[in-house]
Amino acid sequence: MDAELHDRLDELQRDPYPLYARARSAEGLTYVPELDSWLVARDADVREVLRRPEDFSSANALRPDVMPAPAALAVLGGGFGGRPVVVTADGALHQELRAPIVRGLSPARVGAVLPYAAERAAALVDDFVKKGQGGRVELMSAYAGRLPGEVIGRLVGFDPDDVPALVHGGRRAEQLLFRPMAEAEQIAAAEDVVATAHLLDAFVRARHADPREDLGTELIVSVVGPDAAELTLDHRHQVVAHLQNLLIAGHLTTTALIGTTVLHLLRDRRQWELLCAEPERIPAAIEEAARHDTALQGFRRVTTRPVTLAGTELPAGTPVFLAFAGANRDASRHPRPDEFDIARPAGSRHLSFGLGAHTCPGSQLAREQLRLTLELLTSRLPGLRLAEGQRITMRPTLIHRSPERLELLW
Ligand code: HEM
Repeated sequence: MDAELHDRLDELQRDPYPLYARARSAEGLTYVPELDSWLVARDADVREVLRRPEDFSSANALRPDVMPAPAALAVLGGGFGGRPVVVTADGALHQELRAPIVRGLSPARVGAVLPYAAERAAALVDDFVKKGQGGRVELMSAYAGRLPGEVIGRLVGFDPDDVPALVHGGRRAEQLLFRPMAEAEQIAAAEDVVATAHLLDAFVRARHADPREDLGTELIVSVVGPDAAELTLDHRHQVVAHLQNLLIAGHLTTTALIGTTVLHLLRDRRQWELLCAEPERIPAAIEEAARHDTALQGFRRVTTRPVTLAGTELPAGTPVFLAFAGANRDASRHPRPDEFDIARPAGSRHLSFGLGAHTCPGSQLAREQLRLTLELLTSRLPGLRLAEGQRITMRPTLIHRSPERLELLW
């Protein structure tokens, strides 16, 4: 990618909303060179694509925004994983890969992990309150970047001591695939990704030898079969690929949504005060935050045959970028779409967790963590406010939109 295109991609990632607005009001679809895709940004069009998975394949859903250098790809190739994953699979294979994840994230399993999530959330808040000199915290590193990894780690069955390394590995994979970096940095990131994959493989072998009631065991059984004694090398690659995908899908997204939710509530402090006074509004506040500044802004699809969408003809093999975040700001479904308003009448359903075959199986887990977070912060730190003078910048990514840092006072 040339330097000029990279700068434009960076700008677009930090604030994609003007582009979505232009694309919504344009006739047909808009081609976006920075994304190398046709942008689908209207609510009705995004829904149509999601309802037609046979015409719009997910094969390119995780296609990197920036293709890593051959030397970095070679490092990755020597690691674990590299097998089909749920988010990029279609049809029968997709259903097969999705089933154990849905079981592992069932309401009962999520319910069972909630006491742990509540305990960890409270401990993280205690910790930063104790350390916060004069009542100050950087929320992303002290809380938002930590709780979701710990919670998904518990659900999968990881040793809590391994969670920081696994979270770090997920971030490095995201950087490698979605950020332009010099070749030496790419190789270092690829080495971190491979080290994380080896950690995951050690977990897979240990769990296979000693199965438990957890998502990790569920995934292993789905790959190896209930009675199979042997865990082959191919099985190990398959389960590691599953886990890598889950780690990226599961914690970075939730971290991002915690960050943007707190940011928007505190930016318009009357809404924060309303929430403190009327905590029964917390579920509505979560939905509004998920809609207004969507964590997973969009994923790609590729046409499997010639199709016409919004009047634009797309030959087979054409990439489209499905902007959930663009649809969530469509005035035809959400009146005053650019306003963040937790008192918005319920019922205008957003697309922040997708729709149809690939709809997010972790949405309940994400929502519960947001609920715990807002219950804790509104009850324990109602005086919370944004530290003055800070320049809040959003991370340059379309898959985990969040503030880079969030300095808060109380
Ligand atoms: C705020 C948090 C989250 C957001 C915004 C989010 C959003 C999404 C969206 C939009 C999709 C659909 C992608 C597509 O159509 O291609 C998706 C899929 C997925 N999400 Fe989430 N998610 C979140 C949290 C989680 C959590 C906590 C987990 C797991 C613990 C998870 C696991 C997955 C998986 C495995 C898929 C792929 C499903 C499939 O392809 O069938 N997500 N997520």
